[in-house]
Amino acid sequence: MTKLTAAQHTEQVIKAYSKGDPRLVEVMKSVITHLHAIVTETNLTHEEWFDAIDFLTRTGQKCDNVRQEFILLSDTLGVSMLLEMINHRTGDRATEPTVFGPFHVDGSPQRRSGESIIDSPLPTDEPLEVFGRVLDTNSRPIRGATLDVWQVQSNGLYDVQQGASVRNLRGMFTSGDDGKFSFRTVRPVDYSVPDDGPVGEMLRGAKRHGYRPAHIHFVVSAPGHVPVTTHVFDAKSPYLNSDAVFGVRDSLVVSMENGKCEKDFTLEPVTRSGG
Ligand code: BEZ
Ligand code: FE
Repeated sequence: MTKLTAAQHTEQVIKAYSKGDPRLVEVMKSVITHLHAIVTETNLTHEEWFDAIDFLTRTGQKCDNVRQEFILLSDTLGVSMLLEMINHRTGDRATEPTVFGPFHVDGSPQRRSGESIIDSPLPTDEPLEVFGRVLDTNSRPIRGATLDVWQVQSNGLYDVQQGASVRNLRGMFTSGDDGKFSFRTVRPVDYSVPDDGPVGEMLRGAKRHGYRPAHIHFVVSAPGHVPVTTHVFDAKSPYLNSDAVFGVRDSLVVSMENGKCEKDFTLEPVTRSGG
């Protein structure tokens, strides 16, 4: 009697998961194929597999209602950015998307054009004026677009990392007749993603740092257009080529020198297929 090969074994497992919802069957086939390939291609030992299980167990144990270590794992493995790229494929003219991140808060204060988003000034703050226009892909201004803005403080922490009720450096703006928006803030700083858990161990094991280059987060939306979740990065950051979460795109890097930062956002129209 001939012995079952590893490839035949994998086929058996795939077959056992071939009934049910077609999308589930498709995804399970891919998961099993790639998971089995990892084990065979690397000749994984039992000890290594148990180390991996221990790592994932501790990743789960690190999660609570404010800390999500699995999302951080997805971010630092480049999966979150890949999902963004696959699910928000827009044309060349639209502003490039990047990761959403864990520090967005719903219901930021609605602010007037030109208003400051600084609610709790810090001694290390460097003032910054941010301005630009929201445009369509024919370079026509979009009036009444919404810009949801949030960013890190000059101490390297988001407000929410200092307490659930602390609010600073957040705001919702509406573009004017000419598509223009502006607000006053502080220059964002480079900061580390939380690195005191299993993801931090992984980064150190790979000789990677946990820094994200200084940036301001934006979600820009307008009726009839595809919204974009994106950042504006400081061109002076030394971490542009080694972002811990692989989120930098050249088109999003701008000067934040001399207290000014200019960036236009371009939105695509929604197409009939859902855009
Ligand atoms: C952020 O930019 O806020 C962020 C993104 C991914 C992981 C951690 C932080
Ligand atoms: Fe951020």
